[in-house]
Amino acid sequence: MPLDLYDSIRDQRLAALRAEFFPRLPLATGVPLTLELGCGHGHYLNAYAAAHPEEFCVGLDLIADRIARAERKATRARLANLVFVQAEAALFLNALAAAPVSAGVPAPRLRRIFVLFSDPWPKRRHWKHRVLQPALLDTLAALTEAGAALHFRTDHPDYFTFAREVVEQHAAWRLAGAEEAPWPFEHVSVFEERALAGVPQSFTALRSALAPGATV
Ligand SMILES: C[S@@+](CC[C@H](N)C(=O)[O-])C[C@H]1O[C@@H](n2cnc3c(N)ncnc32)[C@H](O)[C@@H]1O
Repeated sequence: MPLDLYDSIRDQRLAALRAEFFPRLPLATGVPLTLELGCGHGHYLNAYAAAHPEEFCVGLDLIADRIARAERKATRARLANLVFVQAEAALFLNALAAAPVSAGVPAPRLRRIFVLFSDPWPKRRHWKHRVLQPALLDTLAALTEAGAALHFRTDHPDYFTFAREVVEQHAAWRLAGAEEAPWPFEHVSVFEERALAGVPQSFTALRSALAPGATV
């Protein structure tokens, strides 16, 4: 495909995401968002949002049926601080990062990001499909302030090692110990119950303060 056609399709998708979903987010308030990338049926985020009414939560997933089920749970529980969006995670984040949303509206900010039981793509040639990638950390860094938290959990030992290394090699993120950044909330999702590959392992990465003038 010619590059300019690729760019134009991508721009159209970004514009559609902005038009369809941004009106559902409280962007005008400047409240930082809590995100789950690859939220599946929304088990975890529904429980998290119910327990944290002061936060506004957004769940993203590629699969329409999963988003529909997640939304039904939020509606039944009458959660006003939670929306689900059918979108590819990196594309949605790029749409958020492409400021300005509209005149006078602060740039969107993220407070907390969850990546839980994300598809491990065990074969090396498929690793490029893993959600946690250096480019994702770049985009997340552009959308966060120092101290924002990225919580990662997987039952796949190789993906755990890979994800830690991606974080360790990124200038804008650093691994934090459990004392500094305790796991914020426990709720077992269907995918966690089904986790067969091994014992779940978790880490939290914190957004570092960058040196003045540094860019991500
Ligand atoms: C194994 S499920 C885990 C769901 C949930 N986090 C949990 O713990 O129950 C992984 C989910 O990530 C979604 N997913 C995979 N790649 C994605 C991407 N690039 N953007 C958005 N969602 C993605 C899949 O559709 C799937 O629903």
